[in-house]
Amino acid sequence: MNIRPATPYDLTGMQNTNLMNLPENYQIKYYLYHALTWPQLSYVAEDHKGRIVGYILGKMNDDMDSKPGQLPNGHVTSISVLRSYRRLGLAQKLMTQSQIAMRDTYNAAYVSLHVRKTNRAAIGLYRDTLGFEVWEVERGYYADKEDALGMRLWLDQDAKAREEAKKA
Ligand code: ACO
Repeated sequence: MNIRPATPYDLTGMQNTNLMNLPENYQIKYYLYHALTWPQLSYVAEDHKGRIVGYILGKMNDDMDSKPGQLPNGHVTSISVLRSYRRLGLAQKLMTQSQIAMRDTYNAAYVSLHVRKTNRAAIGLYRDTLGFEVWEVERGYYADKEDALGMRLWLDQDAKAREEAKKA
């Protein structure tokens, strides 16, 4: 199994993996937007024949202009691994690669994501393996009105302390 940065040639393979696994699907232009705007933040896992069996689609939050003072932060738009390739550590590796690039290339203070509150596998990955914490609960976030957990992994601990002081 090989993990490498995603390219525009991978986008249909990524979309197929997404369609098989998640109800939240995106048009190919949304994948292209990620790949062209933040080429360092999306990765694929491929098998020995070069077939895509997992991906992570990452971005930087680009609403700094409308939210002055907001810290630079990365966001995991979507991650998915085909069923027969799970529990091999692929998602953990995909997440780690993207996080490193968010920090080193874009100076991200934290990584954010949304996850369905009933998604035990993904919450296990984020919280127990990677150290994300629940930052907020967004009621009725998904199309079917399920709540989302807004989770964060802090990459800059000083920035975290300042944000928590503001929240308190
Ligand atoms: N139950 C509990 N914990 C789990 C599970 C599970 N089914 N799967 C993974 N984990 C946790 C474990 O702690 C695991 O470590 P361990 O195997 O040593 O116990 C750790 O995560 C690492 O697991 P990986 O092997 O790296 O994860 P995997 O490659 O299997 O992918 C994923 C996990 C992406 C959640 C996969 O189950 C999947 O594709 N699910 C469907 C799509 C999905 O739900 N994506 C996330 C939506 S939220 C978002 O995209 C921002």
